[in-house]
Amino acid sequence: MMQKQADAILPLKEISKSPAVLELKAVTKVFPGVKALSEVSLKLIPGEVTALVGENGAGKSTVVKILTGIYQPDDGIILVDGQPTIFPVPQAASQSGVTAIHQETVLFDELSVAENIFLGHAPRGRFGLIDLKIMNKKSCDILHSIGARIDPEQKLKDLGIANKHLVAIARALSTDARVVIMDEPTASLSHKEIEELYELVESLKSQGKAILFISHKFDEIFRIADNYTVFRDGQIIGDGAISDVTDADLVKMMVGRDVSQIFPKRKTSLGKVILQVKSYTHPTEFEDISFTLRKGEILGFYGLVGAGRSEFMQALFGITLNTFGTIKIEDKPVQIKSPADAVENGIVYVPEDRGRQGAILDLPIFQNITLPSLGKISGNGFLKLAKEFKLARDYTERLELRAASFDTHVGNLSGGNQQKVVIAKWLATQPKIIILDEPTKGVDIGSKAAVHEFMAELAEQGLAIIMVSSEIPEVLGMSDRVIVMREGRMVTELNENNLQPETLVRHAAGI
Ligand SMILES: Nc1ncnc2c1ncn2[C@@H]1O[C@H](COP(=O)(O)OP(=O)(O)OP(=O)(O)O)[C@@H](O)[C@H]1O
Ligand SMILES: [Mg+2]
Repeated sequence: MMQKQADAILPLKEISKSPAVLELKAVTKVFPGVKALSEVSLKLIPGEVTALVGENGAGKSTVVKILTGIYQPDDGIILVDGQPTIFPVPQAASQSGVTAIHQETVLFDELSVAENIFLGHAPRGRFGLIDLKIMNKKSCDILHSIGARIDPEQKLKDLGIANKHLVAIARALSTDARVVIMDEPTASLSHKEIEELYELVESLKSQGKAILFISHKFDEIFRIADNYTVFRDGQIIGDGAISDVTDADLVKMMVGRDVSQIFPKRKTSLGKVILQVKSYTHPTEFEDISFTLRKGEILGFYGLVGAGRSEFMQALFGITLNTFGTIKIEDKPVQIKSPADAVENGIVYVPEDRGRQGAILDLPIFQNITLPSLGKISGNGFLKLAKEFKLARDYTERLELRAASFDTHVGNLSGGNQQKVVIAKWLATQPKIIILDEPTKGVDIGSKAAVHEFMAELAEQGLAIIMVSSEIPEVLGMSDRVIVMREGRMVTELNENNLQPETLVRHAAGI
């Protein structure tokens, strides 16, 4: 209201400011049981980066989906160059020059990288046929501009998750858009790719594109954003120039309280060796991996995209086969040929890719959580199930899961909350060893502290934890030891005496 009056009184000021290319006015979006957005207004200005921040479930991705024609607002309007517009289908948004890198991008495994990038807008030759040569060349150029070393003719299914994410970024850049929306673009990337993405954002800015940037990482928000907008429970809590606020201000607006950004201190009392891996090798993914893990220890794995960390973890969990080498658990040699073997031996794996490997999106939260424990239920199964259920509830509370109810389908949860379900589900099996692949990917700053505290507490109780993480502060803050991998091999092992950010980066990049 206040805003509208001010506009009426000061029209000149409005005109002198660079006009918004894309704008939301009082947009509301309701899902069954949740008001995802409540009268949200937002302006995107050419040549400026606006950071959108807020807790998991605050409504950020819902805004992205409205701006790209995936959802329709229940109320309020969208303006393009000041003109009220509707985007009944995604193509309409795309034709208005809006492109997005979504939090979960849908790509096609059976198509090539270039086909994925140009699906729906491929360059065509004289007879209307797709010009493969030009398409591959253009793909190559775009991939190159974001520092991705990917062959455009390769099938998508042969790429790891981080490289798939780079393809999704390339796809968004392949249309000549005026507005580029990025929903947690750096969540799957490591140090080097992130730097390249920042350069890309700078270059898009200088080309006069308007950018909406969603992130849970405060260092990057302060590095690249000009403006900020904070959401809480679907409402705008504050907005303005980034230079007028500190990270503590933003956190307080987001969470409504101060959050300690200090990692939990814990008494590390290492127990007996629980896992011994010796000369573990896969014909193409990794080679000669050897280490030991003790009860109560948190062992970090750091590396760049494609270093083979996730592939190795998937082998430990019996997803990737054709491996050789030995694994001993509590001094007993074991064979892990399937995830069932791994679970049987007390090893569980929380994957980075929650959509494909982590959760069953069209089942309710509680069924997802009790699923891996079901096999253990027999005889007095009902009681056991009730116990598992209680455990699941305790765990989800500790991880600050936000959902309308335990019956909500996981697919309807926000990205960060899906992640919490996957972690809770595997912790509820009470394993001896847990492998966490990017445990706080997409998790908001308040819940992140909760996840870290919980990890520290479980380690104190004797759980052995392997943590794959690309976030340097997390690696440094949580690990007792860190193994750095590069191109499928272990390059070094660092402990508290030589664990520094520069050392990590140097070893990972092979400098
Ligand atoms: N298709 C849907 N059906 C039902 N509820 C939905 C749907 N999509 C989103 N929601 C709900 O809307 C709210 C906002 O979700 P949204 O995905 O926008 O959050 P977010 O801010 O992107 O969170 P995150 O940081 O975890 O990605 C959440 O409560 C979510 O569960
Ligand atoms: Mg989201």
